[in-house]
Amino acid sequence: MNKKTLTNATGSPVADDNNSITVGERGALTFDNHYTFEKLAHFNRERIPERVVHARGTGTYGTFTVTKSLKDKTIANFLQTVGQQTEVFARFSTVGGGQDSSDYARDPRGFALKFYTGEGNYDMVGNNTPVFFLRDGINFPDFIHSQKKNPKTNLPDPAAMFEFWANHPQSLHQITILMSDRGIPASYQHMHGFSSHTFSFWNEQGERTWFKWHFKTNQGIKNLTNDEAAKTCPFGAQEDLVNAIDKGNFPSWTASVQMMSEDKAKNYHLNPFDLTKVWSHADFPLIEVGQLELNRNVENYFAETEQACFSPGNLVPGIGTSPDKMLQTRLLAYPDAHRYRVGANANQLPVNAAKCPVNHYQRDGKMAGVCPVGGDKIQTDKVNFYPNNQINDGAPKPKPIFAEPAMPVEKNAWINRFDTVEAEDYYQQAGDLFRLMNESQKSQLTTTIAEGLSQATAEVQQEMLTQFNKADSDYAHRIKTIMKDL
Ligand code: HEM
Repeated sequence: MNKKTLTNATGSPVADDNNSITVGERGALTFDNHYTFEKLAHFNRERIPERVVHARGTGTYGTFTVTKSLKDKTIANFLQTVGQQTEVFARFSTVGGGQDSSDYARDPRGFALKFYTGEGNYDMVGNNTPVFFLRDGINFPDFIHSQKKNPKTNLPDPAAMFEFWANHPQSLHQITILMSDRGIPASYQHMHGFSSHTFSFWNEQGERTWFKWHFKTNQGIKNLTNDEAAKTCPFGAQEDLVNAIDKGNFPSWTASVQMMSEDKAKNYHLNPFDLTKVWSHADFPLIEVGQLELNRNVENYFAETEQACFSPGNLVPGIGTSPDKMLQTRLLAYPDAHRYRVGANANQLPVNAAKCPVNHYQRDGKMAGVCPVGGDKIQTDKVNFYPNNQINDGAPKPKPIFAEPAMPVEKNAWINRFDTVEAEDYYQQAGDLFRLMNESQKSQLTTTIAEGLSQATAEVQQEMLTQFNKADSDYAHRIKTIMKDL
């Protein structure tokens, strides 16, 4: 076997990696210990900031295969032909805990997919729940503060969680999911994934269709109870996924979409861009369009999974956003987080780089690699501005056929802050979900809520009970009864 020589970071062979240079056998270190200093200095820089949310996660590669063409709805080039395959990178995560926290927290799970398409990277940065706690991103930092640790004690703070929720009745639907028997998935393989937000497809004719992604696990749903979770290895979900893939037991998901025409959206009884609500499956049935299989583990956790940068703004021609206020906020938050956490050239790292040519006039910055990634280096290096006179020599130029159809705004719309709190029904869908549950599910749900809520102040307890009562009087009654016995 070809034996490798140990080198320093710039490739020079190292003669001794065990002993620093000292003045005599018992003396101090000398200044020419540049190799020792290099090792220590690099070690000090091994960490980057962990994600401010979703810090604990597991990444793996896979393949998306189209089973139904969406050609009539979208020009997205990875959704055109049955059998077409696209490489994917997936990262699953919990939300609130730090990088080394438990995989088994009662917490939503992140379900993020990066599709390396022929026309750029498309990211679906979703969760395992079809709705979210909030519908305006302005509330997100406050929400996360209340769910993470107490700023003084650095301990989890259920009283703060419920105090936030008491002030945000739109959270009730997601609370009902989170506190239910589905609140702690047994593994990443055994949960669904949703875009949750509404996005848009547009086709060759310039027609827009609103849609939501649903990835249904083919392994079946499995969850843990609070007691089971407490006894489980904190890194169990990561271990489970990595081992399954290493053994060739590739997990898979059936991908479907719900679609709504622009016309229907205008008259639907709910705001179709409100992330706290689902679209009824009876009104908008699931249409199966593909299969997702995860089949290759990362080689280097830090390089690939930790530095992976997903963004809801990583879109491709044929897929656009929607007027969902949360989604709009996220368009700013993610690339901003990436610039801070990974750096200005995060998109040049292998896990983030597109597999198709990347030709643009953005230049330089920290850690700029061969520029630009995948593009035609010689031509684009010649000119670093646009417009220019070198288009016929291969300099890149925009292609108007990729323009998204214009989005209409409400007639006579006023620019303002709109508070729809009083006009909204936050309780119907939460109540519907409660009423769908069997006796055991209702009992698990209300016990978990009662245990948390009992740690809140009397005022918050009363505010929350009023909300549960509006969803279903039995829902509130059960929680109240359990709390009395605690
Ligand atoms: C306005 C509300 C939100 C804001 C401001 C926000 C912000 C963030 C930020 C800053 C990160 C860390 C990104 C990074 O460092 O790479 C993150 C991660 C993540 N968020 Fe959000 N988020 C919001 C709502 C949501 C919603 C509604 C979902 C799901 C439907 C979601 C799913 C995720 C996922 C899956 C990750 C982890 C991505 C990964 O694996 O790297 N977030 N979020």
